[in-house]
Amino acid sequence: MDAAFWLECWQQPLPGFHLDQVHPLLPACWSRVWQPEHKQVLVPLCGKSLDMRWLQQHLPVLGVELAERPCHEFFTEHGLDVKCHATDGFICYQGDGICLLQGDFFQLSVNQLQGPCLVYDRAALIALPESMRQEYVQHLRQLLPVGSTILLLSLEYPSTEKQGPPFAVPAAEVLQLFMGCRIELLAIRNLTGQGFARRAFVTSSLLEKAWRIQL
Ligand SMILES: C[S@@+](CC[C@H](N)C(=O)[O-])C[C@H]1O[C@@H](n2cnc3c(N)ncnc32)[C@H](O)[C@@H]1O
Repeated sequence: MDAAFWLECWQQPLPGFHLDQVHPLLPACWSRVWQPEHKQVLVPLCGKSLDMRWLQQHLPVLGVELAERPCHEFFTEHGLDVKCHATDGFICYQGDGICLLQGDFFQLSVNQLQGPCLVYDRAALIALPESMRQEYVQHLRQLLPVGSTILLLSLEYPSTEKQGPPFAVPAAEVLQLFMGCRIELLAIRNLTGQGFARRAFVTSSLLEKAWRIQL
């Protein structure tokens, strides 16, 4: 999935992955992932997710998104004042405790983080094909200080039945990608027959899993 693919997605009226409510696993898992040493929530590949409004009530939010449209619309749709400036190869949209960096997540550097983070990954890892998933996790692990925690929402379905995105990322791959971290499965949602976000996504089984990953 290259930049052109995602920019094309954002040409549609509303991309199929966007949810019009807070993801139910976020409030459900929050008390199990938040720790007092977390300075901010990092939301890689954030789109214009409503989850960032929920997160902002708890911690400052740093989202990273390639496309200009969701960064701009996030603030206008919530009626928030926003200021924009260029910084370290990104455009920063900032207002009300939320900073969205428009640019390539793979260019984000350690000095743009404020210490141990809570990372919220909904539809970021599973948006990427296998080779990019390794690169993504490698970059994330390089960025994050010790004391950081990741809340990862993964998706499992028989990968012979559909092509991603969203990609199936089985438990074995989560364990392998985050080898050396403390990993715990927090919750499972059975989405079989319900589709994925706005998409029908018909498969014989469809499970969403919430993982706590501690660095
Ligand atoms: C499947 S969507 C998920 C969006 C969001 N996490 C949500 O839950 O609605 C993936 C998003 O990642 C963005 N994206 C893809 N590659 C990126 C990259 N290299 N850097 C930053 N954002 C990227 C896309 O534009 C898209 O908005």
